[in-house]
Amino acid sequence: MAKGRTSVFYCQNCGYESSKWMGQCPGCREWNTFVEEEFRDREEARRGGSSRRARVCRLSEIEVKDEDRLGTGFGELDRVLGGGIVPGSMVLVGGDPGIGKSTLLLQMCRSLTETGKKILYISGEESLKQIRLRADRIGSFGDSLSLLCETDLDVIEGAIQAEKPEIVVIDSIQTMYRESVSSAPGSVSQVRESTGILLRIAKGMGIAVFIVGHVTKEGVVAGPRVLEHMVDTVLYFEGDRHASYRVLRAVKNRFGSTNEIGVFEMKDKGLCEVMNPSEYMLSGKPKGASGSAVACALEGTRPLLLEIQALVCQTFFNIPRRTAAGTDFNRVNLLMAVLEKRVGLSLSSCDAYVNVAGGMKMNEPAVDLAIALAIISSFRDIPLDEHTVVFGEIGLSGEVRAVSMAQARVQEAKKLGFSRCILPQVCLSQVKGVKGIELCGVKSVQEAMGLL
Ligand code: TYD
Ligand code: MG
Repeated sequence: MAKGRTSVFYCQNCGYESSKWMGQCPGCREWNTFVEEEFRDREEARRGGSSRRARVCRLSEIEVKDEDRLGTGFGELDRVLGGGIVPGSMVLVGGDPGIGKSTLLLQMCRSLTETGKKILYISGEESLKQIRLRADRIGSFGDSLSLLCETDLDVIEGAIQAEKPEIVVIDSIQTMYRESVSSAPGSVSQVRESTGILLRIAKGMGIAVFIVGHVTKEGVVAGPRVLEHMVDTVLYFEGDRHASYRVLRAVKNRFGSTNEIGVFEMKDKGLCEVMNPSEYMLSGKPKGASGSAVACALEGTRPLLLEIQALVCQTFFNIPRRTAAGTDFNRVNLLMAVLEKRVGLSLSSCDAYVNVAGGMKMNEPAVDLAIALAIISSFRDIPLDEHTVVFGEIGLSGEVRAVSMAQARVQEAKKLGFSRCILPQVCLSQVKGVKGIELCGVKSVQEAMGLL
């Protein structure tokens, strides 16, 4: 890199670095995202480094204790974190504005104060008064929670060193800044620098740090992707703003599986855990309506029953309209093509709207069969049996293919009182042990249609 250069341009979307301004980012193809920021010479940064000697140790010398994890008091949150908070870890919580990130973290703080854990909650977005008002809605707090409204990281670092808390919450990394970096808060350099400092604090002092990150309209945490690489765990808090339920999903977890989800419901006293999400998802299901099928999908290792709705009607345009809410649009088109060709439904002259009820997002192929049956049911205007659950992947020749963990799915359906399950024929051998529910194995969509 050229000597004497003092500034560099960063794409604010993906962190692409360039020596000159560009209209379109070659990295992420976004327009007008380059902003000039101060260039920090790597050589210079290194020169100021410490003279500590590195200490090498053997794998077997490292001691790990199982009881290291702190329970948050929220079963659903613990599950997503992989069994509780790991001291010295850094967790990024991303989500749309107003989805409940601050509420979730404040509630977590509340239940941690019950066990006397020392917590420092740092907000750069809300005043102390606003936090107090929110806290009053949530419930009574123990005495070990301290608050700080600050955005200057040097001050924050000092406060953490003085307070020595066990857990630190940073409400929005995008509001934090460091004086020595000249660009604006929320820019790539600032976010990266701030996260770096917090990471050092977390690892050095063994403090668990939770940081809130805003999400861009594309649905990724604003700022560079490096943010996600630096932290140990990335959680996304998502859900329909209009529906009250929220799903917490781990997309990266160095201390556990990324397959887990936690389901919450936003109430007037904050977030409540939803112990039985299937029941919750099906609660508004209409009776005797055509175009509705109950699917059993898998969220991580958790079976979840969902209602798939389809509305198929005559089109008035040259090109039929198709929409898919909560599931993959291309998948719906593909399934409609399969139904057209293999089953002989004339869907090409029909508009089709497919929706996963409750605002849930579900892209698992196991919901294929439910989507197909919902479309057929709406097209023929015949309601499906209310007490039937369906799952199975559909191939291009209309065959119903195997899905994983069939037994767990069937058991979930049985638990919720369903009396019949339509599933791939090849999965039948896996579910032999389940009694009390009628199992119908099918090889193709036509066969499943015959059972309607
Ligand atoms: P908030 O945690 O401020 O969202 P974020 O930090 O992700 O931007 O959530 C605010 C929303 O939650 C707001 O629309 C009000 C609602 N809410 C409730 O419905 N009940 C409550 O008890 C609380 C505290 C908030
Ligand atoms: Mg907030």
